[in-house]
Amino acid sequence: MSDAHQTDEAGGAFIPLSEPCLRGNEWAYVKECLDTGWVSSVGSFVTRFEDELAARVGTRYAVATVNGTAALHIALLIAGVEPEDEVLVSTLTFVAPTNAIRYVGAWPVFMDAEPEYWQMDPQKVHDFLSQECAWKNGALYNKGSGRRVRAIVPVHILGHPCDMDPLVEVARRFELSVIEDASEALGSTYRGRAVGSLGDAACFSFNGNKIVTAGGGGMLLTDNPAWAAKAKYLTTQAKDDPIEFVHNEIGYNYRQTNVLAALGTAQLELLDGFIAAKRQLAARYDQVLAQLPGCEIPREAAWASSNCWLYTAAFPSELSRPLQRFFAARQIQVRPLWRPNHRLPPHRDHQAYRLEVADQLHARCLSLPCSVSLTEASQARVLRAIGDFMDQSGPKESDRAC
Ligand SMILES: Cc1ncc(COP(=O)(O)O)c(C=O)c1O
Repeated sequence: MSDAHQTDEAGGAFIPLSEPCLRGNEWAYVKECLDTGWVSSVGSFVTRFEDELAARVGTRYAVATVNGTAALHIALLIAGVEPEDEVLVSTLTFVAPTNAIRYVGAWPVFMDAEPEYWQMDPQKVHDFLSQECAWKNGALYNKGSGRRVRAIVPVHILGHPCDMDPLVEVARRFELSVIEDASEALGSTYRGRAVGSLGDAACFSFNGNKIVTAGGGGMLLTDNPAWAAKAKYLTTQAKDDPIEFVHNEIGYNYRQTNVLAALGTAQLELLDGFIAAKRQLAARYDQVLAQLPGCEIPREAAWASSNCWLYTAAFPSELSRPLQRFFAARQIQVRPLWRPNHRLPPHRDHQAYRLEVADQLHARCLSLPCSVSLTEASQARVLRAIGDFMDQSGPKESDRAC
């Protein structure tokens, strides 16, 4: 029996964390692929998805990839990151950008989250670059490791943008490339500009749990024509001759298929409605959770508009995992934040710079059900579960003053 058919003790159906909402032209566009036989890595939907995403985000070029991790891998390569280089990356993120840094043989330097919006901390990035690094023969080196520093990968987590102006400014000063990991933030804006258009390149994911899904799939965006051409070349096995099998470099089979792109194209048409629904859900959660002693609701910066992809609130650290188990018993799927990457066995020996906030957020935060299709009644059930749990185990109103 699938989770979807389970119920809690009171007969309430399973509430998933975030499920796709396929209610537009998905069937029609996929059928078109099947009817025409264009199902593989070339086809009109691949080009259309690329063009429509680039238009939406406001970049000149888009290159569709098989998933978001592949887009990150290629973005690092086209930015010129080489083996033994270092790349600054958020530690509080899904592991994909860190893995991609290792794919190219480079090393991550983990950066903390700031406490307000939980994104990469620009002040610490600035401090690291200005205090821990030095110029040598026209390149920037980490004084501790002796390695060259090449790029910054800010990850816009949970849909909220990183504070990009100071990050881009410091990157320019130290001649570093900026690759936005915008996988979770499609449709979000920063000072009125679309996330994904703010650095030198950006990557998106269309994994099943993202705001727009293609079942899987990714996209690399850039304004740089040479980078875009190189990205297309590397994602198509570095093919150098249209007829003969000549490959002058090692390439990758990273192209997105037409079937995935058909799904993605249909989903992109629904993006604005999805964002409106997610923002409404977030506002309803905020209204109730803001009243709960010890609960911190996610903030939206004055300079940001978040797509509210995954609603996440912080609870007292001693309550967060018991609350997660309480939800599970009620057939409600919630999830902790990703373990900070500097704690993961393959990455724990890499440099981590002044990490003070990410671990606390990891201990405190839970992501709550926030599918676009979540009904008010189901959301009320989630909120009731939190209320019941807090009545039983939570801090009391009288604790607030402490
Ligand atoms: C921040 C972030 N980066 C990268 C990825 C990787 O994308 P994909 O699963 O499409 O490879 C994801 C999600 O899956 C993500 O959340």
